[in-house]
Amino acid sequence: MSRAAIEPGRSLRGEVELPGDKSITQRAVLLGALAPGTSRIRGANPGEDAKAAIGIARALGARVRAAGGEWIIEGGSLRACKGSLDAKNSGTALRLSIGLLAAQPFRSVLTGDASLRRRPVDRVLRPLRELGADVAATENDRLPPVTVRGTALRGARVETGVASAQVKSAILLAGIQASGTTTVVEPAPTRDHTERMLPLFGARVERDGDGVRVEGPARLRAADVTVPGDVSAAAFLLVAAALVPGSDILLRGVGVNPTRTAFLDLLARAGAPVERLDPRDVGGEPVADLRGRAGGIAPFRVEPGEVPGLIDELPLAAVLAAFARGRSEIRGARELRVKESDRIATMGAGLRALGAEVEELDDGWVIEGRGELRGGRADAAGDHRVAMALLVAGLGTKDGVEVAGAESAAVSDPGFIARLQGLRQ
Ligand code: S3P
Repeated sequence: MSRAAIEPGRSLRGEVELPGDKSITQRAVLLGALAPGTSRIRGANPGEDAKAAIGIARALGARVRAAGGEWIIEGGSLRACKGSLDAKNSGTALRLSIGLLAAQPFRSVLTGDASLRRRPVDRVLRPLRELGADVAATENDRLPPVTVRGTALRGARVETGVASAQVKSAILLAGIQASGTTTVVEPAPTRDHTERMLPLFGARVERDGDGVRVEGPARLRAADVTVPGDVSAAAFLLVAAALVPGSDILLRGVGVNPTRTAFLDLLARAGAPVERLDPRDVGGEPVADLRGRAGGIAPFRVEPGEVPGLIDELPLAAVLAAFARGRSEIRGARELRVKESDRIATMGAGLRALGAEVEELDDGWVIEGRGELRGGRADAAGDHRVAMALLVAGLGTKDGVEVAGAESAAVSDPGFIARLQGLRQ
């Protein structure tokens, strides 16, 4: 396990590009494997999760190679993999693959690393069974490994029961291969990258008050996908800039899909507004340049209804709260307990190790910010977003931080520390 240290002080200035969006990359890889023909992905995320999706695509017989800064995928003739398919640390690769494989005429076994094997899959299996899928998991169908016996599916109207884009996407990937109409209804809106990408690959998607609808079987075709910068990766740098006086950074080409930007609204509420420049469209996704500057952080509340839109940024919201002056509350975020780590516990412990006053709730935190943090040693608990959030916190501390397990940042952003330090030159 490697440690990374961050010294306090030194403002962030200058421009950078971000890694490609992790969610969009994984969708493009899996759809590229399914769709006949040669698909190209430009600006793909370089992290371990994206590589896990590529590994699954290859193990299923898709040819994937890197050339000229693109991933080139020859898809459309998937076949059984002898061993199990390894999604490593990636919940998205695992859960989307279950939906993708539910209609393929062979048996697959999907698994992952120790963290992923502790994360629930019943949320995906139950709705897929409503389409006729033959799927099973261990521990009463709750945990990976997952066995998928591919079979003919029929469309259905499915309520996901949990606000999860992974669940929604798994059902849509099954639905485009089923016969008839599949409608997915979710309890609260979640990221809609799958809905935006399916038409590029030839599948029609309708959206109305009743949910998302696809007609199957869809005649898929290969596509070229340009991936925007990852707004969740941007969020770490924006908080870094917000915390350190004198900072002023420009992040180029960031995806600003409204299902992903709730954290930008939260930053504005907390007193560190982010400017959006040159808004444009890239392959069906809205993109802009983001300018972030230092701001005085005010305490805030995150209500349960805001949680799905902020889900990956809540560790950062906790960091922000620790630097505010006063009491912040984040509630309704029980989902954090089943992420790459139990993020309520791991962020609580990490921030307390740096001197913050954090009360853990069943579904969030109450944080008494004092406008400053001492710093010290903390543990990322093998979780990429916890690692990056604690490193960012270090910038604003008195003594700096040392984070154990910081190498986990490579799951979504292998260049994170270099980019952060580059902005501090
Ligand atoms: C993701 C959806 C979210 C998010 C994860 C990526 C996706 O998970 O936390 O990092 O790509 O669909 P849930 O949809 O399960 O909340």
